[in-house]
Amino acid sequence: MISSKCLKSFMTAVLVVLSIAVSAAALAQRGSDFALYDQHGVFHQISRYNESEAVVLFVYDSNDKASAEALPLLQDLRERYRDESVVFFLLDANQQDTRDSVLAQNVDIPVLLDSAQVVARTLAVVTTAESFILDPDSHRILYRGPLDSRIAVPDADPAMPIPYLESALKAVLADVDDEAPAVPAVAGTPIKYEYKERFGDRQISYQDEVVPILRRRCTTCHIEDGLAPWAMVSHRMMQGWSPMVREVLITRRMPPGQIDTQIGEWDDIHDISDEELTTLVHWIDGGARREGDADPLTELEPVDPAWKLGEPDLIVEVPEEAIPATGIVDFKIKRVALDLNEDKWISAVAYNVGDRTVLHSLLVHALDPTVPAADLAAQVDADNAEFISLYVPGRTEEVFAEDAGFLLQADRDLSLKLRYVSSGRETVDRTRIGLYFRDTAPEYAIRNVITLNEDFTIAAGVDNHVETAQTPAFEHDVYIESFAPQTHTRGKSMTISALFPDGREQVLLNVGNYNFNWQMNYRLTERLALPAGSRLVSTTVFDNSPANPHNVDPEAEVKVGITTWDEIFSHHVRVLEKR
Ligand code: HEC
Repeated sequence: MISSKCLKSFMTAVLVVLSIAVSAAALAQRGSDFALYDQHGVFHQISRYNESEAVVLFVYDSNDKASAEALPLLQDLRERYRDESVVFFLLDANQQDTRDSVLAQNVDIPVLLDSAQVVARTLAVVTTAESFILDPDSHRILYRGPLDSRIAVPDADPAMPIPYLESALKAVLADVDDEAPAVPAVAGTPIKYEYKERFGDRQISYQDEVVPILRRRCTTCHIEDGLAPWAMVSHRMMQGWSPMVREVLITRRMPPGQIDTQIGEWDDIHDISDEELTTLVHWIDGGARREGDADPLTELEPVDPAWKLGEPDLIVEVPEEAIPATGIVDFKIKRVALDLNEDKWISAVAYNVGDRTVLHSLLVHALDPTVPAADLAAQVDADNAEFISLYVPGRTEEVFAEDAGFLLQADRDLSLKLRYVSSGRETVDRTRIGLYFRDTAPEYAIRNVITLNEDFTIAAGVDNHVETAQTPAFEHDVYIESFAPQTHTRGKSMTISALFPDGREQVLLNVGNYNFNWQMNYRLTERLALPAGSRLVSTTVFDNSPANPHNVDPEAEVKVGITTWDEIFSHHVRVLEKR
């Protein structure tokens, strides 16, 4: 058997060769998968349209004459090809354009906002009004050129309009493989690439610019014996992986669990800024080179000390779990008796993870002790089990606000819901949970409210199944602190909004690209006050089609349940209530 280390170095060698073969120019020819948010906060990834025949992309700018003239033609085309399974997008790489400025234009085609300009760069876009046909399956560029001779094509005869894009689309739909006819160049408004002005021709510094970003955004997981399948331990390793790194960055797969950061201000989330993203992509496109001999990535990271917060007041041993080398591991539900002799206020929870390569999430609840041991579902049901804390990779401590605590009643057990992924080798996980208690009662009690929907069925193959749920109205003024949305493999996106007593609605969280593998807890930088009478409403979109890469069975009709093959909709919201 090949050891996983050996396999890793083999992969690295293969990737070093690959990285030499893939240049930015080649990408512009070949295309690439990518993902962006539109003006409504909906996340679109090209490969998620792989059930469609083609994706049409038009380079748009809300201040541009050619764009304005093109809109009616595009809308008409979209109408006529509605039944042909063609998806239409506008690509907006003008950094002055925002969701609001685009919304004000009332365009009904989704406008993909490329504020980091990495998608425009990948497609080597030169001017507005360029149009593309992409194959959502292979990501290949099937057509690049004008929309129509009336739009940004100099010297065209206005009496004889030529529908270039539509002709190309017809050929694509008819599967005609002939050499594409030559088309004139598009002369719209040149795209102003902000980073080109800033970086000029200089090489991005590996040591001063790239490594600090990797440390901030990636190496909590990409270290030796970390959760990620490869470790960022040297420049050579990074260079080898760089084509793949480029892809996971522009599809927003990494860092994992990203949310829409245009909504709300967040603490300690997995995120990457436009600035960091362009720097990494620019560095990769320049050959992922390093200046000088020093390599800060080879310097050993300090090993995470266990119990960074100090020795816990109570250490809870999670019953050990043997994880097979391969295959899907179903959720594990476990119960631990605590035998406390008095009520305790929890101030923090820490995790001493047994095997970081397999444990993906761990939910901790306070469980009503009368729940029978044989009834697994009841042990994680919100009626009996109140959510306390959540471990996700890279987040080994959760410290509650100084003036708040979770009241753990003396009679409670803990119920745990664990999600494991197999890592290529058999292992046994022995994780420990550390509880820290307050000496005095806090000003605010942490409560967990839940927007829960337990009664729905998703038909086989449906890609946009929408469900909503809401909390009862709050009886007192409260503060909202964090959100932990949970679905299983069909979850695609979700939002949580506050509905105020005066009827106003405010979106608080938008997880546009929900990923079942990353069940995170999103914590607001500043707690949000909600007056009595407010409620929380959440909307979840499920994708039970084959286009959903996480879907365990697109052929199945799905009902609510506790296994990976069933679905859930339970969004935990942490609320602080004055005592
Ligand atoms: C919270 C942990 C975590 C962080 C932070 C993280 N990764 Fe990952 N990464 C993973 C895991 C786990 C995988 C394995 C695939 C998966 O789970 O999606 C992975 C896989 C990858 C892969 C391989 C993709 C493939 O298809 O095999 C690349 C490349 C990558 N990460 C790059 C990055 C970069 C670049 C960053 C920082 C900008 C980053 N990761 C941050 C956990 C992480």
